[in-house]
Parts: sequence; structure tokens; C-alpha cells
Amino acid sequence: MYAFQLKKDLQSYLNPSKKHNTTVGLVPTMGALHQGHLALVSRALEENTIVVVSIFVNPAQFNKAEDLNKYPKTLAKDLELLEALSDRIVVFNPEVSEMYPKGSKGNSYDFGGLEKVMEGEFRPGHFEGVGTIVEALLKLVLPDRAYFGEKDFQQLQIVRKMVSLKKITTQIVGCPIVREPHGLAMSSRNERLSASTRVAASFIYETLVAAKEAFRSKSASSVIQWVKKRFESHSLFTLEYIDIRTVKYLKPVKRKHKNGSYRAFIAVYADGVRLIDNIAL
Ligand code: PAF
Repeated sequence: MYAFQLKKDLQSYLNPSKKHNTTVGLVPTMGALHQGHLALVSRALEENTIVVVSIFVNPAQFNKAEDLNKYPKTLAKDLELLEALSDRIVVFNPEVSEMYPKGSKGNSYDFGGLEKVMEGEFRPGHFEGVGTIVEALLKLVLPDRAYFGEKDFQQLQIVRKMVSLKKITTQIVGCPIVREPHGLAMSSRNERLSASTRVAASFIYETLVAAKEAFRSKSASSVIQWVKKRFESHSLFTLEYIDIRTVKYLKPVKRKHKNGSYRAFIAVYADGVRLIDNIAL
């Protein structure tokens, strides 16, 4: 399996293959790969001839230095996992200076307010950082398709908006959330939870499932209140936000419409680790 650190080396590898009707899929990651990432890579392998997996912890999307420093780095294990999956995978794992020769500051985008709510409210500048690196990777790899997990649903919608703003023709493919046996959404951060909290964190998904059921007959605001109450009485978890929003523009739901598409979003602290999840309603 090839692993390139320089943009020019990746491009020289990809350029000749693109001429032979080869399709290229891109799976952008920050490494510390888990089953959720591998599901994205497997889907990309089904739909493309070559799959580029980028492994790059993007400093521009972290608003807290502490969070960036704590981000797990498991490159040797990541490479082993990918190697075992297929010989059609190419890894791109650049240094920060390769992606940000002039300093790691995010570009400005007009995401139309998508970037201001939920994750954007609690992590200022985060989505500018995500947009910047994803735009750079898409322009470098020029993939036919790029794959993103629905766990970061707001990120997925922002990437969709960014490609339309920048007239990038890559198809953005959203893939379902992969969960641990107890229901916790897979995340590299789960490694930082104690074994008991990791099991107890099924509470987050159970709450979302119950909220989905309640939303059939109740308003968004009463479901939100109900979730808040449920967390008040739980000693292990601190709720940061619970929100119900429209799927495309992530607008708050004042009144439900018969044919509307809605999603519930949640962010919770457990053992000092920030966990996010969401569910289609
Ligand atoms: O979801 C992630 O891991 C990151 O936000 C991404 C898309 C790889 C950009 O750094």
C-alpha cells in the first residue's frame, strides 16, 4: 500500500490512473481509525477503483489547543487496518507544513448560518477549519466521490454547501452512523472513556431513540425539554446541547410540517470527553 506525505507525490501517482477510466473515492480522516471509518472506506471501495484515505489531524478545526494535543495518533495501527482491507487504498498523511505552508488558519466561507449553530456555537471557527482542509483535499485528489459519516451531520451539510459554493463537482456521499454494541456512536474519542462510562453512554443513544418516538406526537420544544430533564438527573453525563432541526438548512423547528425532514442533535460530556450524536426523526 502506498502512503504519500507530499502533495506532488500523490498527484503523480493519481494522474496517470485518472486517464484510464479509473474512478477515485476520497475518505478524509484524522486517523485513530475505528469501524466507523472502515465502513466509509469499504463503501468507497465498493463504488470506486482507487480509494484515497487522508490521515491528517487538522489544526485549523480545533478551537482549543488542549483538544488538539489530546487527539489520538495511531498511524502505524491505522496503516495496518487499511492494508488489511484492500490493495486499492492509497494513504495521504501529510505534515502540517505541507497542508499549511503559511500557517494553519481557516479560510472564510459564507455557509449561510449553517456554521453558527450547535457545533459552530460551541466550537467557534471549527467549520471554517473543516471547510479549508476538505476544500484543499478535494482540489488535490479531484475525487469522483468523497465519503463522510452522518455522526458529524452538521459537518456533512457544511461540506455539501462548501462544494456548491466552490463549484466542486465531487459527489458528497453521507454514510450511516456506526455504533458500538451498546449503542454509543463510534468515535476516536470513545477510547478516552472508562470502560464503565463507555457502556453507560448507551444512555445517549437510548435518549435519542426515545426522543424520536416522542416527536411523533409532541412538539420539538417539549421533546427538547424532556431530554434536558432526563440529563439533569444523570450524574455521569453533562448535556451541552439538545436540538431538533430541519435536515437541509439546520433551522429550528417552530411547527412540524407533514412532509418535513427533521433530526435531533446532541452533545454531551462524559469523563471530560465531548461526545456528539444525532438521529433522523
Ligand atoms: O470528520 C473528520 O474527521 C474531520 O473533520 C475531517 C472531515 C477529516 C476534516 O479534517
